Amino acid sequence: MASDETSGKDLTAADSSSVEHVTAAVGTAVVGTAVVARDAVANPGFPPHRPRITDLDPRAEKRAERTVYTLFYLSIVGSIFAIAAYMIFPIVPEDPGSVRLNNLFIGVGLALALLALGIGAVHWGKALMHDEEGSDERHPVRGSDETRARAVEIFQEANTESGIGRRAVIRNSLIGALVVFPLPAVVLFRGLAPQDQDPVALLNQTMWKKGTRLALDPSGSPIKASDVTLGSSFAVIPEGLADLEHGRLEEKAKAAVILVRMKPEDLNQLPERATWSYDGIVAYSKICTHVGCPVGLYEQQTHHLLCPCHQSQFDVADHAKVIFGPAKRALPQLPIAVDSEGYLIAQSDFLEPVGPSFWERQ
Ligand code: FES
Repeated sequence: MASDETSGKDLTAADSSSVEHVTAAVGTAVVGTAVVARDAVANPGFPPHRPRITDLDPRAEKRAERTVYTLFYLSIVGSIFAIAAYMIFPIVPEDPGSVRLNNLFIGVGLALALLALGIGAVHWGKALMHDEEGSDERHPVRGSDETRARAVEIFQEANTESGIGRRAVIRNSLIGALVVFPLPAVVLFRGLAPQDQDPVALLNQTMWKKGTRLALDPSGSPIKASDVTLGSSFAVIPEGLADLEHGRLEEKAKAAVILVRMKPEDLNQLPERATWSYDGIVAYSKICTHVGCPVGLYEQQTHHLLCPCHQSQFDVADHAKVIFGPAKRALPQLPIAVDSEGYLIAQSDFLEPVGPSFWERQ
């Protein structure tokens, strides 16, 4: 039975067969005994090296080189095909067939580009790059000057062994394939923006304009001021929105409003907005200024509007300023008035962009 000097405990026979005891010393002083576990599995070493056909036959090597650059050129063709498909098969609104064709041909082009690029790179590595077994000893992560110098050396070796400097056709075709491959993404993202219209202007404007009646969502019936009782709240849309044939949802996503009636004396209105409400009735954008969820929960006692997505709260009594949550700015107010028949109408569009902030909001 062996003895562990640092702990004072005895080691069993099994312990002593599976460990080595190493006495460590600093200067002349013995400070303890280290225990080093033996490897559980012996290192089997490398199998015998088998040269590839491309190492033995120059014609096979040339053939592999041709295959690799042909695949990279094929990748370029696939990327260009995807761009051409985007232009030749545009998406026509209300035509599902055009969406199918557009997706099909763009997909075929991108698949060809990626597949050829991948296969070419793998074939290059397996058939042409330097073929030699090697092993790296594990070492501390900390890098020393020698390690850094070795890294540079390895990089240079890789450069030599892969032949990227020597095989100009392969290198250039690979660079070409990598440069062309992202181009379909550029044209696809451009397709997300509205055609023929300035996207910033679209974000700034809603369907509200001077004289538009406030209507109930979703029926579209106009609302009389006398129908809005104290403490009530209504989800509101511009009159006429329910009858739109195209773009109804897009318009609603910007123009939705929440209407609330409070005691006029409870309203703390900004001086410049003194004429924006009617007898305690105020209208605010329903689109949360955080990330655009509908702010639909009105708490009558506290006058708070709650966004259910991330719990932002707005105080309707205090020009809908943020009192809690991640939203950073107050809900935009819609200036309202009453027409000669007693219906609530907008005085104008919102005077600031609704919804989340965006890059050119000012
Ligand atoms: S979207 Fe309203 S709080 Fe996040």
